[in-house]
Amino acid sequence: MKVLITGSTGKLGSTLLNQLKGSEYDIKITSRRKPEGIGNLEWVYSDLSSGEGLEAAVKDVDVIIHAATSPVKNSKRVEVSGFKEFLGKMKHIKHLIYPSIVGIDEIPFTYYKQKHEAEELLRNCSIPHTIVRATQFHHFVDNLFLSKPLLKRYIVPENLQFQSVDVSDFASHLIGLMEKEPQERAEDFGGPDIMTLTEMAKLKIEINHETNKVLSISLPGKLHKSISEGKNTNFNRKMGKITFREYLSSKSNELL
Ligand SMILES: NC(=O)c1ccc[n+]([C@@H]2O[C@H](COP(=O)([O-])OP(=O)(O)OC[C@H]3O[C@@H](n4cnc5c(N)ncnc54)[C@H](OP(=O)(O)O)[C@@H]3O)[C@@H](O)[C@H]2O)c1
Repeated sequence: MKVLITGSTGKLGSTLLNQLKGSEYDIKITSRRKPEGIGNLEWVYSDLSSGEGLEAAVKDVDVIIHAATSPVKNSKRVEVSGFKEFLGKMKHIKHLIYPSIVGIDEIPFTYYKQKHEAEELLRNCSIPHTIVRATQFHHFVDNLFLSKPLLKRYIVPENLQFQSVDVSDFASHLIGLMEKEPQERAEDFGGPDIMTLTEMAKLKIEINHETNKVLSISLPGKLHKSISEGKNTNFNRKMGKITFREYLSSKSNELL
């Protein structure tokens, strides 16, 4: 079986690639930048913004895990119209797996609205597919909110909560789905714990033996309200095994 991983230089794409290396699958990958250290692996330049390389990307492929994304630059084109053009090339595909995000239909955020539109395109097409929504990745929450303390303080929006999941747990889950029949919409894949951002910041301070403090600030707006209400979580789907504590500990050990 020939498997295409789009977005192979990204966090999810590169993790999938690492997990699939040496497997029995015939692997093909795409991105715009060529990943380093891929040896003889088949790589195709492919750009969802311009449409370049999309046809070549899907040629001779059976299954696709679509991990390419662009939340900021040209996002409407990459997530929706470029994706639609890409779907148009996939008549022969036996299974397309689309990683999505928990709560995208309830959280007022442009990128999430676009991902929801992409899910809608999939629902209305004839390509056998599986949409699977995950909660935010550990590193994503860490990098977005906890990477730079200001004046020895992590300034975090009050009450925001996350059920973050390790990208490697989600990648293994996607590989598992690849081995099953297309499910249209699979069950959500959430992290093992639901924590407020304040709790996550305190954990980071404890694990890294930092002297920083946490300052929680109240922010207005519908986006913050929806994340405070846990629309980005799924309490019944605590599927990932690696906790945020374990993620932080292994990151801290890597730095030693
Ligand atoms: N991050 C999270 O917390 C999270 C949580 C749940 C689900 N997800 C979903 O998981 C998927 C992967 O996310 P990620 O965090 O791994 O993303 P990422 O690290 O930002 O990687 C994005 C990939 O897309 C490629 N890309 C960017 N622009 C492109 C374009 N115009 N044409 C073709 N490829 C392009 C990038 O490579 P080049 O720049 O080399 O082309 C890169 O390989 C997304 O669907 C995302 O919504 C993410």
